[in-house]
Amino acid sequence: MGHKTSSPIEKFSSRLAFVMAAVGAAVGLGNVWKFPYMAGENGGAAFVMVYLLGLVVISAPIFVAEVVIGRRGAASPPEALSKQAVEHGRSRHWRIPGLFGLVAALLVMSFYSVVAGWTLDYMVSGASGQFTNLDAAGAESQFATLQASVPRLLFWQGGFILMSLAIVALGVRAGIERAVTIMTPALGLLLIALVVYALIEGAMAEAVTYLFAPDFSKLTPKMVMAALGQAFFTLSVGIGGVMMFGAYLPNNTSIFQASLLVIAADTAVALLAGLAIFPIVFANGLDPSGGPGLLFVTLPIAFAGMPFGGLLGTLFFFFLLLAALTSAISLYEPTAAWFSERGMGRMTGTLVAGIASWLLGLLTVFSFNIWADFHPLAFIPGFEDKTFFTLITTGIDTLVLPIGALLIAWFAGRVLSRQAVLDELGVKDGPLFKLWLFAIRRVTPVVVLALLVVNLV
Ligand code: PHE
Repeated sequence: MGHKTSSPIEKFSSRLAFVMAAVGAAVGLGNVWKFPYMAGENGGAAFVMVYLLGLVVISAPIFVAEVVIGRRGAASPPEALSKQAVEHGRSRHWRIPGLFGLVAALLVMSFYSVVAGWTLDYMVSGASGQFTNLDAAGAESQFATLQASVPRLLFWQGGFILMSLAIVALGVRAGIERAVTIMTPALGLLLIALVVYALIEGAMAEAVTYLFAPDFSKLTPKMVMAALGQAFFTLSVGIGGVMMFGAYLPNNTSIFQASLLVIAADTAVALLAGLAIFPIVFANGLDPSGGPGLLFVTLPIAFAGMPFGGLLGTLFFFFLLLAALTSAISLYEPTAAWFSERGMGRMTGTLVAGIASWLLGLLTVFSFNIWADFHPLAFIPGFEDKTFFTLITTGIDTLVLPIGALLIAWFAGRVLSRQAVLDELGVKDGPLFKLWLFAIRRVTPVVVLALLVVNLV
């Protein structure tokens, strides 16, 4: 897109390019960092089951809905929504949820950039030979040392944001298409290598039981909401990011097929990450519910114990960094596109988004050190121990993304005409379409509303 304005919007060159870019947006820290520690904090397999079910039944249909809305609208999410609402005789205020989506994306980026900063730091540690002779205690203290250093955290977070901004400023084709075709397979291969290591050196049987043999006593409304939230987060749905990709998708590409590929790749990476991390957790007596540091205290132990570990570790954190970058792009792109449509310039939009997310990110940085004991909502029962970081991540997962998903489902299922959606999907009014429409019109509203109500009261 370069410095051009938005109309006519520039498309991806092929379906593969779209799929790769969407895979890039979906696969990221959500799969490798967040999924395992969330599963660990929520008791393992029961969480994983709900996550997988939510992915298929709710999150995947929303993903398709976002692509439909985005491609039909061929604009930034607020524009795409208001344009099509007006076309269907509804209010142009549908742009408001789109605008909230832009803000929500920056909120996601606030903690995303900090964790991506940890990844950068670990890439450099790996390269400087720190993944040798590391036991569990050593790995834990390595992570604790990083968290204690505000300047180091700020440096890497800022570095990551600058890299993301540079890529967004370069534009869709130049920036995105190239990296992902190498990144995703490489990340997958390194994860497979880690799983093989875990099979030999880790407690694989224990990990498999932990991840796949559900203890249904762990099923609470809060846990179900967290698992569904993770199913939204991992596919990047609920805040319009996927709409933006839809806008760049060529018109003759099958949305169902492309979506299926993205979802399959995303799920594979998350499950591989789980299978790589938990055997190391159990073999080293670490705590599965150890929280957001889980990835960063387990994998260095594995790298320290394997041949060429320093090199493989560095490569791993490098590819994870790329995966985070391609997701970050999708968090900035809607704001950049929206500014560009208003004639305020892509560059300005990118810059505003970067600065806002950097400032908001300070809340996350401080949550791990100087504000580790500061619990801003402690006066509300149930929030006594929540730092800014926990409030932001759980707020995104259990409030922002579900409400966003609800509105998108409403829009695709009840604002857009059936014919408009059929035309966009390029399918007949057959069983697959009916199933999708049922998911969008009935399942999503009922389940998400019920969970919101149960969790809020
Ligand atoms: N899906 C991305 C990941 O798993 C994160 C993301 C969420 C990106 C929401 C964009 C929007 O890492």
